[in-house]
Amino acid sequence: MSGRLEGRVAVVTGAGDGIGAGVARLFAAEGARVLVAEIDEEKGRAVAEEIGGLFVRVDVTDREQVEGMVATAVDTWGRIDVLVNNAWGSVGHLGRVEHKSDETLERGFTMGYFGPFWAMRAAFPHMLAAGWGRVINMVSLNGVNAHIGSLEYNSAKEALRTLTRTAAREWAPTGVVVNAIAPGAKTAALNRRIAQNPDIAAAVDSANPMGRLGDPLTDIAPVALFLASEDSRYVTGNTIFADGGGHINGVAWAPELPDEPAG
Ligand SMILES: NC(=O)c1ccc[n+]([C@@H]2O[C@H](COP(=O)([O-])OP(=O)(O)OC[C@H]3O[C@@H](n4cnc5c(N)ncnc54)[C@H](O)[C@@H]3O)[C@@H](O)[C@H]2O)c1
Repeated sequence: MSGRLEGRVAVVTGAGDGIGAGVARLFAAEGARVLVAEIDEEKGRAVAEEIGGLFVRVDVTDREQVEGMVATAVDTWGRIDVLVNNAWGSVGHLGRVEHKSDETLERGFTMGYFGPFWAMRAAFPHMLAAGWGRVINMVSLNGVNAHIGSLEYNSAKEALRTLTRTAAREWAPTGVVVNAIAPGAKTAALNRRIAQNPDIAAAVDSANPMGRLGDPLTDIAPVALFLASEDSRYVTGNTIFADGGGHINGVAWAPELPDEPAG
C-alpha cells in the first residue's frame, strides 16, 4: 500500500459490515487512523481490532451519539479529516407509497438524512480550522431511479444528495470537498433482501452491465479512497456511481416486488 491517507483521521459510520467495513479496511491499510462507528458492538469491535482502529458504539439516529462520535475522534487524535456517512439499517417494509406510515418516513429521514447532517455539521468546524476535509456520503440508485417499495430510503438518499451538493457549494472555498458514492455491492444487507425474494438475485446480476455486483473492499472502497485523498481536491458535489455501469440504463433490481401493506 502507498500510504495515501498517512496522518489522516477518518470516521466511518456503519463500518462493522459491508461497504463501511471495506472502506475502513482500505483506509487503515493506507495509513489512516480509523474510528469505526457502528451500532452492532460485536461487528464494530471486530473490525476495529483487525485494522488497529478505535471502536465507538454509535446509533446514527441519535444526535448526541453522532456528535459524540465526532468529538471522540477529535479528542483522541486532535483532528477529523475524513467523514464517511455510510450507515443504514432497515427502517420499514417494502410497501407502496399509499401504505407508508409517517413513522416509517420519519425513521428513514432520521437514519439517512439527519444522521449524516448532524455528523457533517459537527465535523465541519474542525475541517475548516484545518483548511482540509473530505465528506463522503453513501447514496443510492434506488433514489435516483425511484425503485418501487422503498419510499423512505429513496427519499432520504435523494435528500442526502441535495445536502451533499449544497454543502459542496457552500464549503468549496474552504478546502473541504463533499461527494457522494452510489454503490452497487454484494453485502450482507443485499444478500438478506435476495433471500426474501430470489428473483432479485438473478435480476441484479444479469441486469448489471458487468454481469456482477461489486465487492466492498476491491470495487467500492478504492473509489472512497480517491475521494478521501489529496487527489480529489478539485472534485466536489459529485455522485460517483460505483456500480459496474448499472446506472447507465437503470438496473431493474426489483422488477415487481410484492406490496407489503402492514407496518
Ligand atoms: N450494497 C449496495 O449495493 C448498496 C447500494 C446502494 C446504496 N448502498 C448504501 O451503502 C451503505 C452501506 O450499505 P451496505 O450494503 O454495506 O449495508 P450493510 O447492512 O452491509 O452495512 C451497514 C452497516 O451499518 C450498521 N448500522 C445499521 N444501522 C445503524 C445505525 N443506526 N447506526 C450505526 N450503524 C448502523 C449495520 O450494523 C452495518 O454494519 C448504506 O448507506 C446503503 O444505503 C448500498
